[in-house]
Amino acid sequence: KDFKDQMIIDAGQKHFGAIICKSCGMIYTAASPEDEAQHIQHHQRFLEGIKYVGWKKERVVAEFWDGKMVLVLPDDPKYAIKKAEDVRELVDNELGFKQIVLSCPSKIKTYFFVSNERKIIGCLIAEQIKQAFRVLSEPNVPQSPNQDILQHHRAWRCSIKPEAAICGISRIWVFSLMRRRGIAHRMVDVVRNTFMYGCYLSTDEIAFSDPTPDGKLFATKYCQT
Ligand code: ACO
Ligand code: ZN
Repeated sequence: KDFKDQMIIDAGQKHFGAIICKSCGMIYTAASPEDEAQHIQHHQRFLEGIKYVGWKKERVVAEFWDGKMVLVLPDDPKYAIKKAEDVRELVDNELGFKQIVLSCPSKIKTYFFVSNERKIIGCLIAEQIKQAFRVLSEPNVPQSPNQDILQHHRAWRCSIKPEAAICGISRIWVFSLMRRRGIAHRMVDVVRNTFMYGCYLSTDEIAFSDPTPDGKLFATKYCQT
């Protein structure tokens, strides 16, 4: 049944013989039994995780042509909190975060972007913060072999001078097959508008924590526009 949903990717040498699953986005080699087994496991867990059945009292904070945004707060019913935790686990897995403890679970706001097909295709976790350290732009050093390693370890240079900020974005994630459609952009817009009652936060008042390379590219672009 899984195999109806596949398409072969034509990406040249790098992914030779690779398949990308249209439902879970995993890239794997069909010829390898281990890969296939891994895919089946990931596929089920992922689809179960992003499945959104909907709640009677869900808090819809925005509606779009391609979906809506739902906000989950710490005092919400157990089933909503459970969903927020499950999705956070999927996201942390993909980001390679291991058991990161949230600094203050009673203050976090979880935003979902739910598609018209009732799947959670975007997630943003925001926390109230008091200060942040600006990420400094990379100096123009020639490409060195170390650069990859640096990127991998997210060793961004940060300013040592704290700046006041109100909203910390501790995670932002969009389903791999739905990226570059402005979903992250719209999620941040909605957070700026709903995080603090009655005000629209400026880009200086929001901060992205520990950005990945994708996160940094997105944040740089977002904060310029
Ligand atoms: N490379 C270059 N520019 C990018 C990228 C990228 N990978 N992603 C976004 N941008 C820029 C583009 O200018 C884009 O506009 P364009 O498509 O018109 O050129 C603009 O940002 C807006 O992008 P969106 O479509 O709103 O972003 P998207 O919905 O694709 O989500 C995200 C971006 C969340 C970073 C996504 O790539 C993702 O989930 N990546 C994996 C998880 C991850 O690394 N998350 C960030 C972790 S850091 C943190 O959580 C604080
Ligand atoms: Zn799959």
